[in-house]
Amino acid sequence: MTTATQNLIDDHVHILRLTDIMVTMAEEQSKEIAHFELVIDLIRNFADGLHHAKEEDLLFPRMGVYGYHPEHGPVAVMLNEHVQGRKHVAGMVAGIEKYRTGNKDGLFEIYEHLMGYAYLLQNHISKENNVLFKMADQAFSDNDQQELAQQFAEIEAGYDKAFNRESAILKINQLAELYLEA
Ligand SMILES: [Fe+2]
Ligand SMILES: [Fe+2]
Repeated sequence: MTTATQNLIDDHVHILRLTDIMVTMAEEQSKEIAHFELVIDLIRNFADGLHHAKEEDLLFPRMGVYGYHPEHGPVAVMLNEHVQGRKHVAGMVAGIEKYRTGNKDGLFEIYEHLMGYAYLLQNHISKENNVLFKMADQAFSDNDQQELAQQFAEIEAGYDKAFNRESAILKINQLAELYLEA
């Protein structure tokens, strides 16, 4: 079985692909509202919903057992960045609403938050992969890794079928075909 931290690193590959799509959407000044809404769904259900749930509900608390406090130090920084990500999503939603009422400024708010989220998460994932998860790997026993991986598998199995891990990856790849490989 893959370790718990490797499971999260595997999710990051797909989340990073989504952030590349988001940057391209903003750079090309896409006006495809349905695509922006799909990005929001993918963040809410996969990047934030499933992936951040694994980190916030399972990984970080277990790191807490080894002295990594949720209110200060590296775990606090990670939690704070998850909150900032949610603010960018709220900004995208507000931008879409504004654009729908006929205000073109809404589009630029969408682009700003697409970029803001993408760069935040790219930086965040680099810190997790290169620093935080290495701390966890040092601290955790084999048993910790196995128990966590098992709990991750249970979350993934019970997740909303419309946005389970496989379908989210498929949707990211479909967007990638339009924005990254065109
Ligand atoms: Fe995270
Ligand atoms: Fe992560």
